[in-house]
This record gives sequence, structure tokens and C-alpha cells, in this order.
Amino acid sequence: MATFQTLPGFREFYPEDFARRNHVFRLWRQTASTHGFAEYDAPVLEPLELYKAKSGDEIEGQLFSFTDKGGREVALRPEMTPTVCRLIGAKASALKRPIKWFSIGEFYRYERMQKGRGRCFSQFNADIFGEPGPEAEIELIALLTQCLCAFGLTEQDFYVRLSDRNLWFYYLEALGLDEPRIRAVLGVVDKFEKAGDDAFKAYTEQFGELDATLKAKVLAFLQIKSLAALEALLAPIGGDKLAARLVEWRKLLGGLTAMGLERFIEVDLGVVRGLAYYTGFVFEAFDRKGELRALAGGGRYDDLVQKLGGPAFPAVGFAVGDMTFALLLEQRGLMPTLVQVPDVYCVIGGEAERIAAFGAIQKIRVSGYRVDYPMKDIAFGKQLKAASDSGAKLALIFGADELAKGVVKIRNLGDRTESEVPSADVLATVREFFTS
Ligand code: HAM
Repeated sequence: MATFQTLPGFREFYPEDFARRNHVFRLWRQTASTHGFAEYDAPVLEPLELYKAKSGDEIEGQLFSFTDKGGREVALRPEMTPTVCRLIGAKASALKRPIKWFSIGEFYRYERMQKGRGRCFSQFNADIFGEPGPEAEIELIALLTQCLCAFGLTEQDFYVRLSDRNLWFYYLEALGLDEPRIRAVLGVVDKFEKAGDDAFKAYTEQFGELDATLKAKVLAFLQIKSLAALEALLAPIGGDKLAARLVEWRKLLGGLTAMGLERFIEVDLGVVRGLAYYTGFVFEAFDRKGELRALAGGGRYDDLVQKLGGPAFPAVGFAVGDMTFALLLEQRGLMPTLVQVPDVYCVIGGEAERIAAFGAIQKIRVSGYRVDYPMKDIAFGKQLKAASDSGAKLALIFGADELAKGVVKIRNLGDRTESEVPSADVLATVREFFTS
């Protein structure tokens, strides 16, 4: 018989997988909240127009898009950034500052599937609006590192590559390139790590071969790996714009150092980010071993709120994807296998005892404890085994003898001690056990 399969790149979550996903989302939510970010949500289906020419050619080519029954051109969201810009733009003046928002949701991109990349994935997005200075970047990079450290990952497991599209612009301007050429060079830089010299092809097709000295200068800038090297290379060029930008760099790195986060940060001008809307600092998180694709990416996008019809409004943010992140946690043995276990497991003698047990089960559950029990009459020994396999801390035994005596037997599944308590005292005893 033919069975239906999920579409390629789409995922199903059986309860154990779903529990792991919940665990990840729960810690991300908690971390966002400790950093003062407020949660929001928005539709998964959006007007196609929202992404056209806003997210960039790569994402545009990966859209799941169609015409709906009302004749509207629509797309499943490939990312959150244009949507959140619309939300902000619509109420910008009414929102209390600072605007620090986060969300967790599902996104869709028709990508070539590979390890850590699917066509449907989740992202944790965090963004700050209305703050033009690097204080916002400090806050976001701090949140990003903690979103990973909260699971036990350390600087040995991941790092954040930090770069700057503004500096690229100022540098290439100083080398005499105009804006279309600068954008094309940034396209080259974005592809260079993977494609090497082939990355220049697109530039050559559009503008002809890049002059050899210019190319050497681009490659030298792309290989910069420290603030000192950056300052040294830019010193002969000089100019107020560059000097002011370097002040911002020092502020950003100084702030991160004061937070004790410098061990996670690597200056790396080889990162420029593929998305079209970034305007300033950009950053990406990777695993240290270099085995996985990016864990997270983000940066400043000061023009997007306005481009989508809102007021001019500075913005910066990032997103962590759940797929590479789960792979990294698994590789490091940091993904728990049993997340949801009952507190109490009930072992029930037979039909009469089941009726007696129901009252107690109901009371204990309503008091907030997780209680499980077998739905059918099965052998006592099997039930006791199920109780210890369940991961519960206590077993409540409702046997015929206990029922006759008006008691319930309570077994501590950790140290195997047992005691009997009057039926009326079961809830109080359970509560005492879990609170002491
Ligand atoms: P992005 O770099 O396209 O940025 O995606 C961020 C993260 O989402 C990636 O580092 C990766 O972990 C995950 N991701 C992206 N595509 C896939 C895929 N096909 N399968 C699995 N995971 C994927 C953005 O989306 C920006 N909107 C982030 C941002 C927020 N910038 C400012 N605010």
C-alpha cells in the first residue's frame, strides 16, 4: 500500500523529538526574557511583495509562493525581518523604547537540502529598533552568545564572526568604486569562502575583469582578522568617516570585552552576509570545528523599516536556526534524551482499585504534579517496571490490600523505600515529598 511521505525538506516531530525542540525553545525564551526582550508573533503567509527585492535574489529564488483563491500573490515567510519591520513601521511612534523584541517561528525556503539545511526550519529572531549606536549590537551579541551558552556550549564549541558592511563601503569608495560595483564586490566577498576565485565571475560578467591591484586590495581586506590589522590597513586612507567608524568598532569590542564575551568574538572581514538589506555591522555564529553550516546570522539594517513604508528607523537583529543548533548540541552530548517525565506513576490492582485511584490521580494532577498510570489492567510486576522506566520519582500503589485498609502505598523510586499513608493524606504526602 502506498504511504504518503512528507514533502522533501519538511519535518515531522514525534513526541520525543518535539520534547527536545520544546526544550530548546524554552531555554531560548527564558534567555530572551532575562535580557529584557518581549515576544511577538505574525502570520506565516505574507504578500509576495514583502520579500521581492527586499530580502535579496537568493531568498527570492527560494520562496514558496503561489496565487491564493482571491488572486493575491503570496509567499510562505522565508524569514522574519521584513515582517517585523512592518509591525514596527505601523506603530513606530507609539512603541515604548527601547524596542527589544523576539520571536520563535517556522520559516520556509526552497533550498537544496543538506546537513543542517531543510525547506522548513525554525528560527529564534531577536531585534532592537530605534537605537542607532553599537550599544544595540552589544546587547544582541550578548543575547546570541547566551542563547548558545544556556545549553552548556562554550567558546570551545562556537564563535561569532564580526564584520562591517560600512567599512567595506568606505574602503571600496576610497579605492574609487561606485555603488553598483561596491555591491557587486560585496557579492563576491559573500561567496569567496565557498567558491574561491570563481566568486569573481559574477562581477566580471557585469563590469569586466576587476583590476589586479584592486583585486589584491579586496583580498587583503577580506582576510583581516583583528581590529589592529583593520586599523593598520585603513590608516593610510584616513578621513573622518573611517575614523568615526573605527570609534564605533572600539566601542562595540570594548563593550563585549567588559561583558567577558571577547573570547567568543573573532573580527573577520570575510563575512558580509548575503541578505540585501544589511547596512552596518554584520555577524555570524559558527561551530569551532567548522563542520556545520552557520548557526546564526544577523546585522544592522537601518533602511528596511522605511523601505517597507514606515518611518526611518534604525534596526539590528539576528536569527538562530534550530537545525544546525540541534546538530551541534547532539555532537557535544548536550541534547537531553528524556525531557518530559511524570512526577508520579500509579500502579493499580484492578477495576475497583482503579476507581479508587482516579480520585487521588485527579487531585494530584490538579495540584500541578505530572501523574501517569496504565490505561488497562496489566500484571503488577509489569506496572512496577513501567513505573521505574517512566523516570517518575514516586510510585503510588493502589492494590486490593491497600484499598481494604484505606491506605495507599508510596514507593520512593530513587531509594526504593516504601510507606503506607491513609488515602485522604496522599496529596499532602506527595506535596511534602516534592517540596522538601
Ligand atoms: P539567515 O542567515 O538567512 O538570516 O538565517 C539565520 C539562520 O537561520 C542561519 O544561520 C541558519 O541557522 C538558519 N537557516 C537559514 N536557512 C535555513 C534552512 N534552509 N534550513 C535550516 N536552517 C536555516 C536571516 O534569516 C535574517 N532574517 C536574520 C536577521 C534577523 N537579521 C536581522 N534580524
